Amino acid sequence: MRDQIIQLLKERGDYFSGEEISHQLAISRAAIWKNIEELRKEGYTIAATPHVGYKLDGVPDKLIAREVQSELNTKTFGKKIIHFDSITSTMEHAFQLGVNGEEEGTVICAEKQTKGRGRMGRNWVSPPGTGIYASIILRPQLSPANVSQITLLSAVAVCEAILKVADLDVSIKWPNDILYQNKKVAGILTEMSAEMDRVRFIIVGIGINVNTPARLLPAQSASLKNGSRKNLSRITLFQSILKNFENEYQIMKQKGFEPVIGKWKKLSRTLGNKICINDMAEKIVGEAVGLDEFGGLIIKREDGRLIKKMSGDVVYINE
Ligand code: BTN
Repeated sequence: MRDQIIQLLKERGDYFSGEEISHQLAISRAAIWKNIEELRKEGYTIAATPHVGYKLDGVPDKLIAREVQSELNTKTFGKKIIHFDSITSTMEHAFQLGVNGEEEGTVICAEKQTKGRGRMGRNWVSPPGTGIYASIILRPQLSPANVSQITLLSAVAVCEAILKVADLDVSIKWPNDILYQNKKVAGILTEMSAEMDRVRFIIVGIGINVNTPARLLPAQSASLKNGSRKNLSRITLFQSILKNFENEYQIMKQKGFEPVIGKWKKLSRTLGNKICINDMAEKIVGEAVGLDEFGGLIIKREDGRLIKKMSGDVVYINE
């Protein structure tokens, strides 16, 4: 019922009398009032003037399903959105849903995380109401060896959305960091449940510093607002990510991974750069020269030998 009331008020764009709403939705005036009160609690600003009616003056800047799904038009991604005001980590919740058989495309998002996780055991700073913290459940028919392809696909979907919505010159740093002026504005974490030769499900976790004040972020991070100098709509950005995701995922299913690799290469500044790459085991210095078919980074070491890495932290070396 609340969805319908909001829909009517949005369409009208002006006052809508209680009598008319009651007639159109076949509910009592008292029921309308109760729902209006609930909507206000959700964060909607609704003016109520006696003998005139109700008018929608503002929607909450929260990633709630009703707002994200309006004009989304995706078939799978975001068809179901579970929103929390606060959660430990959207990854934990999504993983549990994955175990319980939740459908592909379901999204878990939160206004804040108290134990946001990053790659390589790090934490992900997730202050309230300023960023995008979301996990998407995927069930691709892939072998575990190919899962890093999904990470690159996710980076393409997020990077293209930021380019479009925030109009900032962001780029991808292998494998999944989105940088603006050499500072990290977004990261992607991929976790999976798998058997030896079959993925059961994958959780793609997306963290974006959208309007986060710099003082709340680690030194090497920034928010999109730092670049655009104005608050950005997290809803518009998230809608764009979900649309891109669905699009890239469809292309990958039909044509394989090549088109994603092509886009990733265009959006990344890693290839051709002198880099230092660190993983738990070692530190390698060389030039990033290519990507293999699994999304691994090929590095030409200073002695000319080629080496491949599937994970690690890249640092650009400026000479
Ligand atoms: C990285 O280290 O670059 C990956 C960061 C991923 C953060 C996101 S925020 C939403 C989801 N929930 C988490 O706890 N982590 C991911």
